[in-house]
Amino acid sequence: MPRLEFKGKVFVENHHLAVPYHELIPVRDKGIGPKANLHDNLILHGDNLAALKALLPTHQRKVKCIYIDPPYNTGNEGWAYNDNVTSPMMQDWLGKVVDREDLTRHDKWCCMMLPRLKLLRDLLTDDGAIFVSIDDNEVHRLRCLMDEVFGEDNFLATLIWQKVFSPKNSAKYFSDDHDFILVYAKDIENWVPNLLERGEEAIKRYTNPDNDPRGAWSSSDLTARNFYSQGTYEVTSPSGRKFRPSVGNYFRVSPEKFKELDADNRIWWGSSGDAMPRLKRYLSDVRHGVIPQTLWTHSDVGHTQGAKKELVSILHFERSEDVFTTVKPTSLVRRILQIATDEDSIVLDTFAGSGTTAHAVLALNKEDGGNRRFVLVECEDYADSITAERVRRVIRGVPAAKDKALKAGFGGTFSYFQLGRPMRKESLLGAGKLPSYETLAAYIFFTATGEEFEPGKVRQEDWYIGASTQYDVFLVYDPDVEQLKRMALTLGVARALPQSGRPRLVFAPTEYLDRDLLHRYGITYQQLPFEIYEAVDRLSA
Ligand SMILES: C[S@@+](CC[C@H](N)C(=O)[O-])C[C@H]1O[C@@H](n2cnc3c(N)ncnc32)[C@H](O)[C@@H]1O
Repeated sequence: MPRLEFKGKVFVENHHLAVPYHELIPVRDKGIGPKANLHDNLILHGDNLAALKALLPTHQRKVKCIYIDPPYNTGNEGWAYNDNVTSPMMQDWLGKVVDREDLTRHDKWCCMMLPRLKLLRDLLTDDGAIFVSIDDNEVHRLRCLMDEVFGEDNFLATLIWQKVFSPKNSAKYFSDDHDFILVYAKDIENWVPNLLERGEEAIKRYTNPDNDPRGAWSSSDLTARNFYSQGTYEVTSPSGRKFRPSVGNYFRVSPEKFKELDADNRIWWGSSGDAMPRLKRYLSDVRHGVIPQTLWTHSDVGHTQGAKKELVSILHFERSEDVFTTVKPTSLVRRILQIATDEDSIVLDTFAGSGTTAHAVLALNKEDGGNRRFVLVECEDYADSITAERVRRVIRGVPAAKDKALKAGFGGTFSYFQLGRPMRKESLLGAGKLPSYETLAAYIFFTATGEEFEPGKVRQEDWYIGASTQYDVFLVYDPDVEQLKRMALTLGVARALPQSGRPRLVFAPTEYLDRDLLHRYGITYQQLPFEIYEAVDRLSA
């Protein structure tokens, strides 16, 4: 397969593997809900490359649908390539805004996208799919990158979204009326689209002028151009008129079948009984829905101007320069969700902007009683003031909204996390010392459970470090090298651990209990992180 080459590719091809895990720091008062939790709806504030990596422990192969709307690289979006790739050439790129004068702007964009696409793929379920909004600036390069990461066999469609409702007559050559959405499956063999409900217009075409007890029907031509040896017979209408297919056309059914259909009142001769016969098709017989098409019109899924209006009506920006302009219509993302999610799917958007994806998820859940969850990532400071604020408002209700459900609020919760420092060994093991009991407890609790650590709950005397949704969690540890060498999960320790009747997850340097005993005491044992042992060796030397 031909591959796209671009400047910097050799440095970023495996960059996704080198990205360190980062702490995710819960910011409880920015979310809605009792306790920040990585299994909740999520808004993560930080760069999406690090955020994607941080999501791997909890979300790998769990995301059914990804929708992303990255910078289109138009040359006036003010984005900068900022990935910390250790090559002098790449370092030279850092922090510089990518504008039209930048001769490497397409290379930078590809370098930005490639490692992100690779991590996004790791998060998809085996029956999941990714939808990527883009326009002519990068569509051809994106297609090559997606072929490379997802495999060209997993290409599903290039959707055309008619983004404007009237042409721009001021355009120099052509009015640019559409965006693309590239769609790839993780594995095309496993991906099945949901059929869409028939629109009202389509249903209106089914009527019942002859009060047929089988219900509403519409009729289709009984003749076709395909040669059919038995398809040239003559038929007589109830009014006595004779009909044959026109020259070059043939009835699609044999004379016997025609008689059978007519006797069963499945042939329509027109309201006066003297028109060319047509075949009745009942609404109840046709498929429950329609297969998604690749052309999405503004009247079906909204347009950019409507999207801006919708956002302004929710966020009431005080100054026009604060208005977030690259917003997509909720109805557009909702259409994607209708096609590509089930009622309990996880939906990921790592270029979240104004939070349209979260809005669409909550609205659809409200409508169909689903329990989809969203995960949004936004790097700009407006992750709180725009992204999360929109979500807070649509959850609680938008008093001036025309839509009744939005006015009342869709309900729900979400947790807000700030991307913290990289979790390198050095940050765990400061200045050649072992981490304090509490520092290690925070690290272990969060990485093992994905839930918020509450320092106030720790009772070191019991080895108790907190309760997650699933476990009571314990840490048998002392930051003293000699003590630590002697520590273990023994029968005595197991018996002494407080019991609440819930399963217990115990971290300890080692354990002296066999499987039966662990089972009897309701304990799952987990060894301390490897880095601790390396440090113990180093400090003992
Ligand atoms: C085109 S906007 C998305 C708009 C969104 N679909 C909506 O309807 O509001 C792209 C967003 O991606 C964000 N972004 C760009 N690079 C990012 C990165 N490396 N990490 C996280 N967010 C990023 C930008 O700040 C911007 O808000």
